[in-house]
Amino acid sequence: MFEVEGLHVSVEGTEILKGVDLVVGAGEVHALMGPNGSGKSTLAQTLLANPEYEVTAGAIRFKGEDVTAWPVDARGKAGMFLAFQYPEEIPGVPIRQFLRQALAARKGIEDLSVLETRLAIMDWCKRLEIDDSMMDRYLNEGFSGGEKKRNEILQMAVLEPEIAILDETDSGLDIDALKVVAKGVQEVRRARPELGVLLITHYMRILDLLAPDVVHILLDGRIVESGGVQLARRLETDGYEAFRS
Ligand SMILES: Nc1ncnc2c1ncn2[C@@H]1O[C@H](COP(=O)(O)OP(=O)(O)OP(=O)(O)O)[C@@H](O)[C@H]1O
Ligand SMILES: [Mg+2]
Repeated sequence: MFEVEGLHVSVEGTEILKGVDLVVGAGEVHALMGPNGSGKSTLAQTLLANPEYEVTAGAIRFKGEDVTAWPVDARGKAGMFLAFQYPEEIPGVPIRQFLRQALAARKGIEDLSVLETRLAIMDWCKRLEIDDSMMDRYLNEGFSGGEKKRNEILQMAVLEPEIAILDETDSGLDIDALKVVAKGVQEVRRARPELGVLLITHYMRILDLLAPDVVHILLDGRIVESGGVQLARRLETDGYEAFRS
């Protein structure tokens, strides 16, 4: 469903990703772990089609199409959700309006029903335990870390993607925010079991909560090992050194 094949990525002439292979099937949860500087965010930025990240070899495929050269909006429209796509504050745009625009773009419908969108948002607010009044606040303006996370998951739920790529690496999440992410992802998966998830994280805690199907270890721009959750446990005891050979 979602595939990264032999991906090499350079930033300002320096090769950071040196051949990354990854396949996320429908309904699967994959966790990507790795030490600081291993290239996790580089992969995330590449998936986001950030122009500073140059794909020098390999491909990104989604639903049988090569999306490597696609800009971010085309990827989003096709059903890729990139959580860190909207982390910034967008002054003057209430979440409700932002979500409606994003949903219209995703569905390719210009005159999306205001009522229908409102109902969909209300429904998900209830399920994710978000106070609906928050939808009238401006996107991320003055939000706590946990509130931002909750909104990110809400965006994911409303936009109905087929693959969600969540980069939790740099966000300094506290335990509560981690639980929000994990519980939210589970709730969305319950509603849409076919959703594939690639979760980039440093935290064992979230893996305990989310029980990924596959854990990948990224070291120096390469996936050096993939396996079950026990890989992450080995990481807890032995550190990344054990994976360097
Ligand atoms: N714009 C850039 N210019 C120069 N070097 C960069 C740039 N972006 C990333 N790098 C380098 O690429 C390497 C990988 O960085 P990346 O941010 O992908 O690591 P990471 O795995 O996300 O680490 P962390 O766990 O600390 O978030 C680092 O050595 C970093 O300095
Ligand atoms: Mg990072």
